Amino acid sequence: MGAAAMVLTAQALAETRRAFDAVAPTYGAANDANPVIRMMRARTMAALRRHVHPGARVLDLGCGPGPDLVALAKLGYDVTGVDWSPEMVERANEAIRARGLERNARAHVLGIHEIDRLPAGSWQAAYSDLGPLNCVPDLPAAARAIASRLQPGGVLVASVIGRSCPWEWLIYGLRGEWSRVGVRYQRGFVPVPLEGATVWTHYFSPSECIQVFASAGFQLVRIRALGLTVPPPYLDAFCRRNPGVLRALTRVDDVVGRWPGVRHWGDHFLIELVRP
Ligand SMILES: C[S@@+](CC[C@H](N)C(=O)[O-])C[C@H]1O[C@@H](n2cnc3c(N)ncnc32)[C@H](O)[C@@H]1O
Repeated sequence: MGAAAMVLTAQALAETRRAFDAVAPTYGAANDANPVIRMMRARTMAALRRHVHPGARVLDLGCGPGPDLVALAKLGYDVTGVDWSPEMVERANEAIRARGLERNARAHVLGIHEIDRLPAGSWQAAYSDLGPLNCVPDLPAAARAIASRLQPGGVLVASVIGRSCPWEWLIYGLRGEWSRVGVRYQRGFVPVPLEGATVWTHYFSPSECIQVFASAGFQLVRIRALGLTVPPPYLDAFCRRNPGVLRALTRVDDVVGRWPGVRHWGDHFLIELVRP
């Protein structure tokens, strides 16, 4: 990477850190109250639990305020979280301490782009929930570092923000806001507003993501859409007002979101990979 590109990357990472630091105090509670986030989290967690059992060592990449660290530690997993936002990590460690789970869980301030500082070959699974991989400046390098943190046969389970979101085609298309529809199709780091700050985000199609991880030695096990028929998390007010509609759409999502072709659409996609 040239000097100019390195400066821009450092600036983007600093802005992203500021954005997540600023929302950290309310982030966990807001997500817990969001039925779409709960639906997505439950499916990502279930996928992880199909691959590894309590007692396994799990690395949570971009753990945020620690909801999955706490849930996995309670189930008996040994889980280490890393996150680029010191405020998020503080909340995660508070949540772990408040439940007396320190033996099974801990969180550290560390970017996914820095995880080659962690010991190699130490985890049976890596896990990343709700898009932290989208905030990494160089996903191919991170994919190689993730692969080397895993033991042979280790898995990566991640929910990643996708490019093709039919709900956004509908919402923004009906309003004629085509530039907003195009945001997810841009290449490179895209500035995405978060409560007045900026999160620099890379959007990936499932095929792009599979290719990046294949180059790092992973094999695809399974992929599905998360949020194909279910609206994106920011339409939570609609979902709260219409719980029956959300339940019905979730049932459709769970079936249609696995179909070839359409499983590559959706607000997020859930990818399961193994390092043979
Ligand atoms: C949408 S939140 C998801 C948090 C958590 N996984 C959850 O399910 O609630 C994204 C998280 O990724 C973290 N993040 C952003 N860029 C990162 C990076 N380069 N390395 C590690 N974490 C990062 C943010 O600080 C934030 O906590």
